[in-house]
Amino acid sequence: MKARHPQSQTSCRRGIPMDAFLAAAVIDSPGLLVLVLDRHARAVCANRTLLDMLKLPSDASPTDIEACGLLTTAQRLKLSKLAAAKPGHAASRRMTLNPKVADRPLRLTMEAAITRQAPPSRRRYLILTGFDITAAQSLQDSLRRSESQIRAILETAVDAIITADQRGCIQTFNPAASRIFQYKAAEVINRNVSMLMPEPYHSEHDRYMQNYLRTGRAKIIGIGREVIGRRKDGSTFPMYLAVGEQIHGQRHFFTAIIRDISERKRMEHEILHISEREQQRIGQDLHDGLGQLLTGAALHAKALGGLLGRAAPELADRMNRVIELINDGIAQSRELSRGLQPVSDCQVFPTSLQDLAERTEKLFDIECSVRCDPLPPGVTVSDGTHIYRIVQEAVHNAVRHGKARHVQISLKTLGRNLKLTVRDDGVGFPDVRGRGLGLHIMNYRAGAIGALLEIRSTPGRGVTVICSLSQPENAADNSPAKTGNSS
Ligand SMILES: Nc1ncnc2c1ncn2[C@@H]1O[C@H](COP(=O)(O)OP(=O)(O)OP(=O)(O)O)[C@@H](O)[C@H]1O
Ligand SMILES: [Mg+2]
Repeated sequence: MKARHPQSQTSCRRGIPMDAFLAAAVIDSPGLLVLVLDRHARAVCANRTLLDMLKLPSDASPTDIEACGLLTTAQRLKLSKLAAAKPGHAASRRMTLNPKVADRPLRLTMEAAITRQAPPSRRRYLILTGFDITAAQSLQDSLRRSESQIRAILETAVDAIITADQRGCIQTFNPAASRIFQYKAAEVINRNVSMLMPEPYHSEHDRYMQNYLRTGRAKIIGIGREVIGRRKDGSTFPMYLAVGEQIHGQRHFFTAIIRDISERKRMEHEILHISEREQQRIGQDLHDGLGQLLTGAALHAKALGGLLGRAAPELADRMNRVIELINDGIAQSRELSRGLQPVSDCQVFPTSLQDLAERTEKLFDIECSVRCDPLPPGVTVSDGTHIYRIVQEAVHNAVRHGKARHVQISLKTLGRNLKLTVRDDGVGFPDVRGRGLGLHIMNYRAGAIGALLEIRSTPGRGVTVICSLSQPENAADNSPAKTGNSS
Protein backbone atom coordinates (compact mmCIF):
# COMPACT_ATOMS: atom_id res chain seq x y z
CA MET A 1 0.00 0.00 0.00
CA LYS A 2 1.37 3.32 -0.99
CA ALA A 3 0.89 5.47 2.17
CA ARG A 4 2.06 9.01 2.75
CA HIS A 5 2.64 8.41 6.46
CA PRO A 6 4.07 4.97 6.81
CA GLN A 7 4.46 3.62 10.33
CA SER A 8 6.96 0.94 11.15
CA GLN A 9 4.73 -0.51 13.85
CA THR A 10 1.02 -0.42 14.45
CA SER A 11 -1.35 -2.08 16.92
CA CYS A 12 -4.71 -3.77 16.70
CA ARG A 13 -7.67 -2.69 18.91
CA ARG A 14 -6.72 -4.81 21.88
CA GLY A 15 -3.29 -3.30 21.80
CA ILE A 16 -1.40 -6.33 20.54
CA PRO A 17 1.47 -4.91 18.53
CA MET A 18 1.38 -5.65 14.81
CA ASP A 19 4.45 -5.03 12.72
CA ALA A 20 4.30 -3.27 9.36
CA PHE A 21 4.79 -6.57 7.50
CA LEU A 22 1.75 -8.12 9.20
CA ALA A 23 -0.31 -4.94 8.68
CA ALA A 24 0.56 -4.94 4.96
CA ALA A 25 -0.42 -8.66 4.74
CA VAL A 26 -3.82 -7.88 6.29
CA ILE A 27 -4.35 -4.85 4.04
CA ASP A 28 -3.45 -6.80 0.91
CA SER A 29 -5.42 -9.91 1.81
CA PRO A 30 -7.14 -11.20 -1.33
CA GLY A 31 -10.58 -9.81 -2.05
CA LEU A 32 -10.36 -7.02 0.52
CA LEU A 33 -10.50 -3.51 -0.96
CA VAL A 34 -9.00 -0.62 0.99
CA LEU A 35 -9.15 3.04 0.03
CA VAL A 36 -7.74 5.86 2.18
CA LEU A 37 -9.16 9.38 1.72
CA ASP A 38 -8.17 12.62 3.36
CA ARG A 39 -10.67 14.72 5.33
CA HIS A 40 -11.86 16.35 2.07
CA ALA A 41 -12.61 12.85 0.76
CA ARG A 42 -9.79 12.97 -1.76
CA ALA A 43 -7.80 9.85 -2.51
CA VAL A 44 -4.62 9.31 -0.54
CA CYS A 45 -3.83 5.70 -1.34
CA ALA A 46 -5.36 2.31 -2.07
CA ASN A 47 -4.35 -1.26 -1.37
CA ARG A 48 -2.93 -3.58 -4.01
CA THR A 49 -6.20 -5.42 -4.66
CA LEU A 50 -8.09 -2.18 -5.40
CA LEU A 51 -5.23 -0.83 -7.55
CA ASP A 52 -5.20 -4.09 -9.54
CA MET A 53 -8.94 -3.85 -9.97
CA LEU A 54 -8.63 -0.26 -11.21
CA LYS A 55 -5.85 -1.43 -13.56
CA LEU A 56 -3.38 0.94 -11.85
CA PRO A 57 0.28 0.20 -11.06
CA SER A 58 1.29 -0.44 -7.45
CA ASP A 59 2.98 2.98 -7.29
CA ALA A 60 -0.09 4.85 -8.60
CA SER A 61 -0.40 8.39 -7.33
CA PRO A 62 -3.51 9.83 -5.58
CA THR A 63 -4.26 11.73 -8.84
CA ASP A 64 -4.29 8.41 -10.77
CA ILE A 65 -6.72 6.96 -8.23
CA GLU A 66 -8.93 10.06 -8.36
CA ALA A 67 -9.03 9.80 -12.18
CA CYS A 68 -10.90 6.50 -11.87
CA GLY A 69 -13.99 8.37 -10.69
CA LEU A 70 -14.54 6.24 -7.62
CA LEU A 71 -16.77 8.77 -5.85
CA THR A 72 -19.66 10.90 -7.03
CA THR A 73 -19.87 14.52 -5.87
CA ALA A 74 -22.68 13.61 -3.47
CA GLN A 75 -20.67 10.77 -1.95
CA ARG A 76 -17.63 13.02 -1.56
CA LEU A 77 -19.80 15.57 0.27
CA LYS A 78 -21.22 12.94 2.64
CA LEU A 79 -17.77 11.57 3.36
CA SER A 80 -16.23 14.96 4.04
CA LYS A 81 -19.11 15.61 6.52
CA LEU A 82 -18.32 12.29 8.13
CA ALA A 83 -14.65 13.26 8.41
CA ALA A 84 -15.68 16.52 10.09
CA ALA A 85 -17.91 14.79 12.66
CA LYS A 86 -17.06 15.42 16.28
CA PRO A 87 -15.18 12.67 18.02
CA GLY A 88 -17.61 10.30 19.70
CA HIS A 89 -20.25 10.59 16.95
CA ALA A 90 -21.16 7.38 15.16
CA ALA A 91 -18.70 7.71 12.36
CA SER A 92 -19.19 5.15 9.63
CA ARG A 93 -21.09 5.01 6.37
CA ARG A 94 -21.83 2.22 3.93
CA MET A 95 -21.88 3.09 0.26
CA THR A 96 -21.67 1.59 -3.19
CA LEU A 97 -18.97 2.87 -5.54
CA ASN A 98 -19.33 2.53 -9.28
CA PRO A 99 -16.01 3.18 -10.99
CA LYS A 100 -15.63 2.31 -14.67
CA VAL A 101 -12.57 0.43 -15.76
CA ALA A 102 -12.04 0.07 -19.49
CA ASP A 103 -15.75 0.76 -19.93
CA ARG A 104 -16.62 -2.14 -17.65
CA PRO A 105 -18.80 -0.88 -14.79
CA LEU A 106 -17.73 -2.16 -11.38
CA ARG A 107 -19.83 -2.31 -8.26
CA LEU A 108 -17.98 -2.08 -4.96
CA THR A 109 -19.60 -2.02 -1.55
CA MET A 110 -17.52 -0.13 1.01
CA GLU A 111 -17.80 0.85 4.63
CA ALA A 112 -16.19 4.21 5.46
CA ALA A 113 -14.81 4.82 8.92
CA ILE A 114 -12.73 7.73 10.20
CA THR A 115 -9.40 7.47 11.83
CA ARG A 116 -7.26 10.10 13.51
CA GLN A 117 -3.54 10.12 13.76
CA ALA A 118 -1.92 10.38 17.12
CA PRO A 119 -0.62 13.79 18.24
CA PRO A 120 1.07 15.88 17.21
CA SER A 121 -0.31 15.62 13.63
CA ARG A 122 -3.94 14.62 14.62
CA ARG A 123 -4.74 14.31 10.94
CA ARG A 124 -8.04 12.73 10.03
CA TYR A 125 -8.37 10.08 7.38
CA LEU A 126 -11.30 8.14 6.02
CA ILE A 127 -10.63 4.44 5.65
CA LEU A 128 -12.96 2.70 3.20
CA THR A 129 -12.90 -1.11 3.26
CA GLY A 130 -15.12 -3.37 1.24
CA PHE A 131 -15.55 -5.92 -1.53
CA ASP A 132 -16.22 -6.21 -5.23
CA ILE A 133 -19.88 -7.17 -5.62
CA THR A 134 -20.02 -6.77 -9.43
CA ALA A 135 -20.61 -10.50 -10.07
CA ALA A 136 -23.00 -10.97 -7.15
CA GLN A 137 -24.87 -7.85 -8.18
CA SER A 138 -25.21 -8.89 -11.80
CA LEU A 139 -26.46 -12.32 -10.62
CA GLN A 140 -28.94 -10.58 -8.35
CA ASP A 141 -29.96 -8.25 -11.20
CA SER A 142 -30.56 -11.14 -13.56
CA LEU A 143 -32.49 -13.03 -10.85
CA ARG A 144 -34.58 -9.94 -10.25
CA ARG A 145 -35.12 -9.57 -14.02
CA SER A 146 -36.18 -13.16 -14.47
CA GLU A 147 -38.39 -12.94 -11.39
CA SER A 148 -40.15 -9.90 -12.79
CA GLN A 149 -40.50 -11.62 -16.18
CA ILE A 150 -42.05 -14.66 -14.50
CA ARG A 151 -44.32 -12.39 -12.50
CA ALA A 152 -45.41 -10.61 -15.70
CA ILE A 153 -46.15 -13.97 -17.35
CA LEU A 154 -48.15 -15.12 -14.33
CA GLU A 155 -50.05 -11.85 -14.14
CA THR A 156 -50.94 -11.68 -17.83
CA ALA A 157 -51.40 -15.39 -18.63
CA VAL A 158 -54.83 -16.32 -19.99
CA ASP A 159 -54.54 -19.72 -18.33
CA ALA A 160 -54.77 -20.30 -14.62
CA ILE A 161 -51.35 -21.11 -13.15
CA ILE A 162 -51.36 -22.63 -9.70
CA THR A 163 -48.41 -24.00 -7.74
CA ALA A 164 -48.76 -26.40 -4.83
CA ASP A 165 -46.40 -28.23 -2.50
CA GLN A 166 -46.33 -31.99 -2.06
CA ARG A 167 -49.10 -31.86 0.57
CA GLY A 168 -51.28 -30.26 -2.12
CA CYS A 169 -51.25 -26.86 -0.36
CA ILE A 170 -51.62 -23.98 -2.81
CA GLN A 171 -48.55 -21.71 -2.88
CA THR A 172 -49.35 -19.31 -5.71
CA PHE A 173 -52.57 -18.47 -7.54
CA ASN A 174 -52.36 -16.11 -10.53
CA PRO A 175 -55.06 -13.58 -11.59
CA ALA A 176 -56.38 -15.90 -14.33
CA ALA A 177 -56.89 -18.58 -11.67
CA SER A 178 -58.89 -16.04 -9.63
CA ARG A 179 -60.97 -15.22 -12.70
CA ILE A 180 -61.63 -18.87 -13.58
CA PHE A 181 -62.28 -20.22 -10.06
CA GLN A 182 -63.79 -16.98 -8.62
CA TYR A 183 -61.50 -17.11 -5.55
CA LYS A 184 -59.09 -14.35 -4.52
CA ALA A 185 -55.52 -15.61 -4.05
CA ALA A 186 -55.67 -14.90 -0.29
CA GLU A 187 -58.70 -17.20 0.01
CA VAL A 188 -56.88 -20.24 -1.35
CA ILE A 189 -53.19 -19.84 -0.40
CA ASN A 190 -52.13 -22.64 1.97
CA ARG A 191 -55.42 -24.47 1.44
CA ASN A 192 -55.63 -27.85 -0.27
CA VAL A 193 -55.89 -27.69 -4.05
CA SER A 194 -58.67 -30.30 -3.91
CA MET A 195 -61.03 -27.42 -2.98
CA LEU A 196 -60.99 -26.58 -6.70
CA MET A 197 -62.32 -30.01 -7.70
CA PRO A 198 -65.81 -31.52 -7.45
CA GLU A 199 -66.46 -35.05 -6.25
CA PRO A 200 -65.17 -37.72 -6.83
CA TYR A 201 -61.84 -35.94 -7.64
CA HIS A 202 -62.07 -33.87 -4.44
CA SER A 203 -62.01 -36.92 -2.16
CA GLU A 204 -59.59 -38.88 -4.30
CA HIS A 205 -56.98 -36.13 -4.65
CA ASP A 206 -54.89 -36.68 -1.48
CA ARG A 207 -54.82 -40.45 -1.97
CA TYR A 208 -53.76 -39.93 -5.57
CA MET A 209 -50.92 -37.56 -4.52
CA GLN A 210 -49.66 -39.97 -1.85
CA ASN A 211 -49.84 -42.81 -4.30
CA TYR A 212 -47.85 -40.84 -6.86
CA LEU A 213 -45.18 -39.77 -4.35
CA ARG A 214 -44.85 -43.40 -3.17
CA THR A 215 -44.86 -45.18 -6.53
CA GLY A 216 -43.97 -42.46 -9.06
CA ARG A 217 -46.87 -43.70 -11.19
CA ALA A 218 -48.56 -40.65 -12.76
CA LYS A 219 -52.10 -40.36 -14.06
CA ILE A 220 -52.05 -36.63 -14.80
CA ILE A 221 -48.57 -35.29 -13.93
CA GLY A 222 -46.59 -34.80 -17.13
CA ILE A 223 -49.55 -35.99 -19.23
CA GLY A 224 -52.38 -33.47 -19.21
CA ARG A 225 -56.05 -34.28 -19.61
CA GLU A 226 -59.59 -32.97 -19.50
CA VAL A 227 -61.10 -32.91 -16.03
CA ILE A 228 -63.84 -31.05 -14.17
CA GLY A 229 -63.16 -27.95 -12.06
CA ARG A 230 -65.24 -26.42 -9.28
CA ARG A 231 -65.78 -22.68 -8.85
CA LYS A 232 -66.29 -20.84 -5.55
CA ASP A 233 -70.05 -20.80 -6.10
CA GLY A 234 -70.04 -24.60 -6.41
CA SER A 235 -70.68 -24.66 -10.15
CA THR A 236 -68.52 -26.99 -12.23
CA PHE A 237 -66.88 -26.56 -15.63
CA PRO A 238 -64.74 -28.63 -18.00
CA MET A 239 -61.05 -27.74 -17.97
CA TYR A 240 -57.81 -28.90 -19.54
CA LEU A 241 -55.23 -29.60 -16.85
CA ALA A 242 -51.48 -29.97 -17.37
CA VAL A 243 -49.30 -30.57 -14.31
CA GLY A 244 -45.52 -30.26 -14.14
CA GLU A 245 -43.28 -31.26 -11.25
CA GLN A 246 -40.15 -29.68 -9.78
CA ILE A 247 -38.04 -31.40 -7.14
CA HIS A 248 -35.92 -29.33 -4.73
CA GLY A 249 -33.90 -31.60 -2.45
CA GLN A 250 -36.42 -33.97 -0.89
CA ARG A 251 -39.40 -31.75 -1.62
CA HIS A 252 -41.73 -31.90 -4.63
CA PHE A 253 -43.55 -28.90 -6.03
CA PHE A 254 -46.28 -29.00 -8.65
CA THR A 255 -47.32 -26.39 -11.21
CA ALA A 256 -50.76 -26.75 -12.73
CA ILE A 257 -51.74 -24.92 -15.90
CA ILE A 258 -55.48 -24.86 -16.35
CA ARG A 259 -57.59 -23.76 -19.29
CA ASP A 260 -61.33 -23.30 -19.02
CA ILE A 261 -62.69 -25.21 -22.04
CA SER A 262 -66.40 -24.59 -21.41
CA GLU A 263 -66.76 -22.54 -24.58
CA ARG A 264 -64.91 -25.10 -26.73
CA LYS A 265 -67.04 -27.88 -25.27
CA ARG A 266 -70.20 -25.92 -25.91
CA MET A 267 -69.19 -25.42 -29.53
CA GLU A 268 -68.20 -29.06 -29.96
CA HIS A 269 -71.54 -30.06 -28.53
CA GLU A 270 -73.29 -27.66 -30.85
CA ILE A 271 -71.42 -29.01 -33.91
CA LEU A 272 -72.11 -32.61 -32.96
CA HIS A 273 -75.73 -31.78 -32.30
CA ILE A 274 -76.08 -30.04 -35.67
CA SER A 275 -74.42 -32.92 -37.49
CA GLU A 276 -76.58 -35.44 -35.59
CA ARG A 277 -79.72 -33.45 -36.55
CA GLU A 278 -78.61 -33.22 -40.17
CA GLN A 279 -78.02 -36.97 -40.31
CA GLN A 280 -81.42 -37.52 -38.77
CA ARG A 281 -83.02 -35.23 -41.36
CA ILE A 282 -81.33 -37.05 -44.24
CA GLY A 283 -82.38 -40.36 -42.66
CA GLN A 284 -86.01 -39.21 -42.45
CA ASP A 285 -85.92 -37.85 -46.03
CA LEU A 286 -84.57 -41.16 -47.24
CA HIS A 287 -87.24 -43.06 -45.36
CA ASP A 288 -90.19 -40.81 -46.10
CA GLY A 289 -89.12 -39.52 -49.54
CA LEU A 290 -87.05 -42.04 -51.50
CA GLY A 291 -88.35 -45.01 -49.49
CA GLN A 292 -92.01 -44.15 -50.14
CA LEU A 293 -91.28 -43.40 -53.79
CA LEU A 294 -89.63 -46.79 -54.26
CA THR A 295 -92.47 -48.50 -52.41
CA GLY A 296 -94.94 -46.82 -54.80
CA ALA A 297 -92.81 -47.87 -57.80
CA ALA A 298 -92.70 -51.46 -56.46
CA LEU A 299 -96.49 -51.56 -56.15
CA HIS A 300 -96.95 -50.26 -59.70
CA ALA A 301 -94.35 -52.71 -61.01
CA LYS A 302 -96.11 -55.57 -59.24
CA ALA A 303 -99.47 -54.61 -60.76
CA LEU A 304 -97.81 -54.25 -64.18
CA GLY A 305 -96.12 -57.63 -63.68
CA GLY A 306 -99.57 -59.22 -63.14
CA LEU A 307 -100.88 -57.72 -66.39
CA LEU A 308 -97.73 -58.65 -68.29
CA GLY A 309 -97.94 -62.20 -66.99
CA ARG A 310 -101.22 -62.58 -68.81
CA ALA A 311 -100.54 -60.45 -71.95
CA ALA A 312 -96.87 -61.18 -72.61
CA PRO A 313 -95.67 -64.07 -70.35
CA GLU A 314 -92.20 -63.92 -71.96
CA LEU A 315 -91.68 -60.46 -70.35
CA ALA A 316 -92.94 -61.48 -66.88
CA ASP A 317 -89.51 -62.75 -65.71
CA ARG A 318 -87.86 -59.47 -66.65
CA MET A 319 -90.61 -57.60 -64.81
CA ASN A 320 -90.05 -59.75 -61.70
CA ARG A 321 -86.34 -58.84 -61.89
CA VAL A 322 -87.31 -55.12 -61.97
CA ILE A 323 -89.51 -55.65 -58.88
CA GLU A 324 -86.61 -57.43 -57.11
CA LEU A 325 -84.27 -54.51 -57.88
CA ILE A 326 -86.81 -51.99 -56.58
CA ASN A 327 -87.22 -54.05 -53.38
CA ASP A 328 -83.41 -54.14 -52.97
CA GLY A 329 -83.45 -50.35 -53.34
CA ILE A 330 -86.14 -50.10 -50.62
CA ALA A 331 -84.10 -52.35 -48.28
CA GLN A 332 -80.93 -50.36 -48.90
CA SER A 333 -82.62 -47.00 -48.32
CA ARG A 334 -84.04 -48.40 -45.05
CA GLU A 335 -80.57 -49.55 -43.97
CA LEU A 336 -79.13 -46.15 -44.81
CA SER A 337 -81.95 -44.38 -43.02
CA ARG A 338 -81.45 -46.57 -39.94
CA GLY A 339 -77.68 -45.94 -39.99
CA LEU A 340 -78.19 -42.21 -40.16
CA GLN A 341 -80.95 -42.22 -37.59
CA PRO A 342 -80.26 -45.22 -35.35
CA VAL A 343 -82.46 -44.08 -32.47
CA SER A 344 -85.72 -42.65 -33.72
CA ASP A 345 -87.55 -43.22 -30.47
CA CYS A 346 -86.30 -43.84 -26.92
CA GLN A 347 -89.03 -46.45 -26.38
CA VAL A 348 -87.46 -48.74 -28.96
CA PHE A 349 -83.84 -48.18 -27.89
CA PRO A 350 -83.35 -51.84 -26.79
CA THR A 351 -84.51 -52.94 -30.25
CA SER A 352 -82.00 -50.59 -31.90
CA LEU A 353 -79.18 -52.20 -29.89
CA GLN A 354 -80.54 -55.65 -30.71
CA ASP A 355 -80.48 -54.75 -34.45
CA LEU A 356 -76.90 -53.53 -34.10
CA ALA A 357 -75.88 -56.81 -32.44
CA GLU A 358 -77.62 -58.90 -35.10
CA ARG A 359 -75.99 -56.96 -37.93
CA THR A 360 -72.58 -57.35 -36.21
CA GLU A 361 -73.06 -61.13 -35.85
CA LYS A 362 -74.09 -61.46 -39.49
CA LEU A 363 -71.39 -59.21 -40.87
CA PHE A 364 -68.41 -60.39 -38.81
CA ASP A 365 -69.45 -63.90 -37.88
CA ILE A 366 -68.98 -63.40 -34.14
CA GLU A 367 -71.23 -63.74 -31.10
CA CYS A 368 -72.72 -60.46 -29.94
CA SER A 369 -75.18 -60.56 -27.04
CA VAL A 370 -77.40 -57.76 -25.74
CA ARG A 371 -79.10 -57.22 -22.38
CA CYS A 372 -80.79 -53.85 -22.40
CA ASP A 373 -83.18 -52.27 -19.90
CA PRO A 374 -85.44 -49.46 -21.11
CA LEU A 375 -83.72 -46.06 -21.03
CA PRO A 376 -84.31 -44.13 -17.80
CA PRO A 377 -86.65 -41.11 -17.76
CA GLY A 378 -85.00 -37.83 -18.76
CA VAL A 379 -82.88 -39.46 -21.48
CA THR A 380 -83.64 -37.83 -24.83
CA VAL A 381 -83.39 -39.18 -28.38
CA SER A 382 -80.19 -37.14 -28.72
CA ASP A 383 -78.75 -38.80 -25.57
CA GLY A 384 -79.88 -42.20 -26.85
CA THR A 385 -78.11 -41.53 -30.15
CA HIS A 386 -74.87 -40.70 -28.30
CA ILE A 387 -75.17 -43.93 -26.28
CA TYR A 388 -75.88 -45.93 -29.44
CA ARG A 389 -72.83 -44.44 -31.20
CA ILE A 390 -70.63 -45.27 -28.17
CA VAL A 391 -71.77 -48.90 -28.39
CA GLN A 392 -71.27 -48.87 -32.16
CA GLU A 393 -67.66 -47.60 -31.86
CA ALA A 394 -66.84 -50.00 -28.99
CA VAL A 395 -68.17 -52.97 -30.98
CA HIS A 396 -66.40 -51.78 -34.11
CA ASN A 397 -63.08 -51.49 -32.24
CA ALA A 398 -63.57 -54.91 -30.63
CA VAL A 399 -63.92 -56.54 -34.04
CA ARG A 400 -61.40 -54.43 -35.94
CA HIS A 401 -58.58 -54.13 -33.41
CA GLY A 402 -59.37 -56.74 -30.74
CA LYS A 403 -60.25 -59.60 -33.16
CA ALA A 404 -62.84 -60.47 -30.51
CA ARG A 405 -65.00 -63.61 -30.81
CA HIS A 406 -67.55 -62.53 -28.21
CA VAL A 407 -68.93 -59.09 -27.45
CA GLN A 408 -71.38 -58.49 -24.61
CA ILE A 409 -73.49 -55.33 -24.55
CA SER A 410 -75.29 -54.55 -21.32
CA LEU A 411 -77.34 -51.49 -20.40
CA LYS A 412 -78.66 -51.42 -16.84
CA THR A 413 -81.06 -48.79 -15.57
CA LEU A 414 -81.56 -47.98 -11.90
CA GLY A 415 -84.02 -45.15 -11.30
CA ARG A 416 -82.65 -42.23 -13.31
CA ASN A 417 -79.17 -43.77 -13.55
CA LEU A 418 -77.76 -45.81 -16.35
CA LYS A 419 -74.72 -48.03 -16.74
CA LEU A 420 -73.65 -49.19 -20.16
CA THR A 421 -70.98 -51.87 -20.51
CA VAL A 422 -69.47 -53.21 -23.73
CA ARG A 423 -67.08 -56.05 -22.99
CA ASP A 424 -65.02 -57.96 -25.57
CA ASP A 425 -62.70 -60.95 -25.30
CA GLY A 426 -60.15 -59.66 -27.82
CA VAL A 427 -56.45 -58.93 -27.56
CA GLY A 428 -56.87 -55.65 -25.63
CA PHE A 429 -54.28 -52.89 -25.80
CA PRO A 430 -51.55 -51.80 -23.44
CA ASP A 431 -52.16 -48.09 -23.03
CA VAL A 432 -55.17 -45.84 -23.58
CA ARG A 433 -53.12 -42.66 -24.02
CA GLY A 434 -53.01 -40.60 -27.23
CA ARG A 435 -55.04 -43.02 -29.34
CA GLY A 436 -57.20 -42.50 -32.43
CA LEU A 437 -60.33 -40.50 -33.01
CA GLY A 438 -62.90 -43.13 -32.04
CA LEU A 439 -62.04 -43.23 -28.32
CA HIS A 440 -61.82 -39.47 -28.26
CA ILE A 441 -65.28 -39.03 -29.79
CA MET A 442 -66.65 -41.73 -27.49
CA ASN A 443 -65.31 -39.77 -24.55
CA TYR A 444 -66.76 -36.59 -25.95
CA ARG A 445 -70.19 -38.16 -26.48
CA ALA A 446 -70.21 -39.36 -22.88
CA GLY A 447 -69.31 -35.83 -21.72
CA ALA A 448 -72.04 -34.35 -23.94
CA ILE A 449 -74.74 -36.26 -22.07
CA GLY A 450 -73.11 -35.68 -18.68
CA ALA A 451 -71.85 -39.26 -18.33
CA LEU A 452 -68.44 -40.61 -17.33
CA LEU A 453 -66.58 -42.92 -19.68
CA GLU A 454 -64.06 -45.47 -18.51
CA ILE A 455 -62.03 -47.77 -20.72
CA ARG A 456 -60.39 -50.76 -19.09
CA SER A 457 -58.06 -52.86 -21.15
CA THR A 458 -56.23 -56.01 -20.11
CA PRO A 459 -53.76 -57.06 -22.81
CA GLY A 460 -54.66 -60.57 -23.94
CA ARG A 461 -58.02 -60.49 -22.17
CA GLY A 462 -60.00 -57.80 -23.96
CA VAL A 463 -61.43 -54.37 -23.43
CA THR A 464 -64.37 -53.14 -21.35
CA VAL A 465 -65.97 -49.80 -22.10
CA ILE A 466 -68.14 -48.44 -19.28
CA CYS A 467 -70.34 -45.38 -19.61
CA SER A 468 -72.15 -44.27 -16.43
CA LEU A 469 -74.83 -41.64 -16.38
CA SER A 470 -76.10 -40.35 -13.02
CA GLN A 471 -78.98 -37.91 -13.26
CA PRO A 472 -80.04 -36.07 -10.10
CA GLU A 473 -83.53 -37.14 -9.04
CA ASN A 474 -84.89 -33.60 -9.14
CA ALA A 475 -82.96 -32.35 -12.19
CA ALA A 476 -84.95 -30.50 -14.81
CA ASP A 477 -84.32 -32.09 -18.18
CA ASN A 478 -83.06 -28.92 -19.79
CA SER A 479 -79.27 -29.18 -19.51
CA PRO A 480 -77.40 -28.79 -22.82
CA ALA A 481 -77.26 -32.55 -23.00
CA LYS A 482 -81.00 -32.79 -22.55
CA THR A 483 -82.15 -30.29 -25.11
CA GLY A 484 -81.95 -32.68 -28.03
CA ASN A 485 -84.94 -33.93 -29.97
CA SER A 486 -87.05 -35.96 -27.57
CA SER A 487 -89.78 -36.82 -30.03
N1 LIG B 1 -61.56 -53.18 -28.21
C1 LIG B 1 -60.28 -52.95 -28.56
N2 LIG B 1 -59.40 -53.96 -28.63
C2 LIG B 1 -58.11 -53.76 -28.97
N3 LIG B 1 -57.60 -52.55 -29.24
C3 LIG B 1 -58.42 -51.49 -29.17
C4 LIG B 1 -59.80 -51.62 -28.83
N4 LIG B 1 -60.35 -50.40 -28.81
C5 LIG B 1 -59.37 -49.55 -29.17
N5 LIG B 1 -58.21 -50.20 -29.38
C6 LIG B 1 -56.89 -49.60 -29.70
O1 LIG B 1 -57.01 -48.22 -29.48
C7 LIG B 1 -56.72 -47.52 -30.68
C8 LIG B 1 -57.57 -46.30 -30.75
O2 LIG B 1 -58.91 -46.62 -31.03
P1 LIG B 1 -59.83 -45.52 -31.68
O3 LIG B 1 -61.18 -46.05 -31.80
O4 LIG B 1 -59.65 -44.26 -30.91
O5 LIG B 1 -59.14 -45.27 -33.09
P2 LIG B 1 -59.16 -46.20 -34.37
O6 LIG B 1 -60.20 -47.26 -34.19
O7 LIG B 1 -57.77 -46.67 -34.61
O8 LIG B 1 -59.56 -45.17 -35.47
P3 LIG B 1 -61.03 -44.55 -35.70
O9 LIG B 1 -61.90 -45.00 -34.58
O10 LIG B 1 -60.78 -43.09 -35.67
O11 LIG B 1 -61.47 -45.08 -37.01
C9 LIG B 1 -56.91 -48.49 -31.78
O12 LIG B 1 -56.12 -48.19 -32.89
C10 LIG B 1 -56.49 -49.80 -31.13
O13 LIG B 1 -55.09 -49.92 -31.16
MG1 LIG C 1 -62.15 -46.85 -33.59
